[in-house]
Amino acid sequence: MKIQWRDELSVDNGGPIDADHKYLVSLINATLDLDKKPEREKLFIEILERLKIYAKVHFRREESLQKASGYPESENHKKEHVYLERKLDVIINVAKKEMAEKTSSQKSDLIFKQTQKFLNEWLIQHVIGHDLKMKEYTSLMSEKAKELKSIEDI
Ligand SMILES: [Fe+2]
Ligand SMILES: [Fe+2]
Repeated sequence: MKIQWRDELSVDNGGPIDADHKYLVSLINATLDLDKKPEREKLFIEILERLKIYAKVHFRREESLQKASGYPESENHKKEHVYLERKLDVIINVAKKEMAEKTSSQKSDLIFKQTQKFLNEWLIQHVIGHDLKMKEYTSLMSEKAKELKSIEDI
C-alpha cells in the first residue's frame, strides 16, 4: 500500500525537510507502480539505488540544519542516520541478490512486498520517532535552509 502523506508527519510546516521527506515517500511509492511493467525487477533496483542517493543527501542536509540551529540531539540523530544508511544498503543488496536468483514471479512478488514494507517502516518510523522531535527548532533552521537547494535539483 502506498504511503499517504499526512499532516502529522510534517516536521517544518512544508519547509525543506518536509519536501525531502515527500520526495523520499514518492520514490518508495513509485515501486508500487511497477507491478505490471516488464523489467520491473530492473526498475525496482534503479529506484532503490536512487533512494539510497537521496536518503544520503537528505540526512546530510538535516544534520547541517540541526547543527546550525543548535539542536541538542544532533549527535544521536546522526548516529541513527548512519544506522539507517547501513540498513538500507543491506536491504538493497538482499533485494538485488534475490532478484538475480529468483525462480518464479511469485518469489519476485514476495521480494517486492518485503522490501516495500521494510522501506515504509524504515522511513516513517524514523520521521515519527526522531525527526518530529526537531519541530520546535525548525524556525531557527529556516534561515539556514534558504541557502540549500531543493532535493530534486541535486
Ligand atoms: Fe532524520
Ligand atoms: Fe528526515
